[in-house]
Amino acid sequence: MKLVVANHKMNLTKETLVNYKETLLTFTNPEINLVVCPSLPYLDLFQNANFALGSQNVGMLEKGSLTGEVSATQLKDLGVSYCIVGHSERRTKLNETDAMINQKIKELLKQDITPILCIGETQDERSSGEITTVLEKELLGAFKDLTSDEISRVVLAYEPIWAIGTGITPTNQEIEETISQIRNILNKQVSLSLRILYGGSVNLQNITTLEQIKDLAGYLVGGSSLEINSWIQLLEQIGR
Ligand code: 13P
Repeated sequence: MKLVVANHKMNLTKETLVNYKETLLTFTNPEINLVVCPSLPYLDLFQNANFALGSQNVGMLEKGSLTGEVSATQLKDLGVSYCIVGHSERRTKLNETDAMINQKIKELLKQDITPILCIGETQDERSSGEITTVLEKELLGAFKDLTSDEISRVVLAYEPIWAIGTGITPTNQEIEETISQIRNILNKQVSLSLRILYGGSVNLQNITTLEQIKDLAGYLVGGSSLEINSWIQLLEQIGR
C-alpha cells in the first residue's frame, strides 16, 4: 500500500475545488492511502471524504500570539491527520529553520497528526558531494530530542530541490541510493525503519518508472495533483 500525498501549495480556489473533491470521491484504488493537502482556507471543504486530510503547515506553538499561523490543535479540530513540515519552499523563501521544524513536529505528535518531513539537497550540494551532510543536518535538526518511538511516527519525503517543479527527476538508482543514505544516517540515532516518500516532478510520464523503485513508501506530488482528471490518471498507475 502506497502513501500518496497531493500538495496543492498556494493554488486553486473554491470553485475548482468543489468539483475536484466530488470527482476524487468517485475514485478508489485499494493500493493507495491518499492524502490531500489543500491550501489552508479550504481544509474545511475536504472534510468527510474517503481520503485523508493533510495540512501544508502548522504553527510552532501550542496556542497564543502567533498571527497568521494555525495550531496543531486547530488542525486536529478540522479532521487533519497529516501535515507537511520542512518543505524546501518554506525553508528557502520563509526562512524556516531546523529548530522551528523540530518544534512543529513535536506539536503535531502531541495531537497525533502524522508529520510529513521534507528533506532534500540543491543541485550544487549534490554536485559537490555534500548530500549526506545536508540530509544529516536536516534529519538530526528535525528529530532533536525526539524518542525513537516519536521518530517512527514521522513520514519522510525525500524531495531534491532541483527536481521540484522542474520536470527533472533523479534516476531510480539515485533515489534508491539516497534512501539508503537516509536510513544509514538514522541508524546512528534510531534503529527503526521509517516510511520514505519521493517528491519532485512526479508525473504521468515518469510514474511507471518511479514505481520500480525499491523501498519507496509513496509520493508527495505538487503540480501533477492540481488538475483532477490527470491526477486520477496518475493515481491509477500506482500500485498496479
Ligand atoms: P512538483 O510535483 O510540482 O515538482 O512539487 C513537488 C513538491 O514540492 C511537493 O511537495
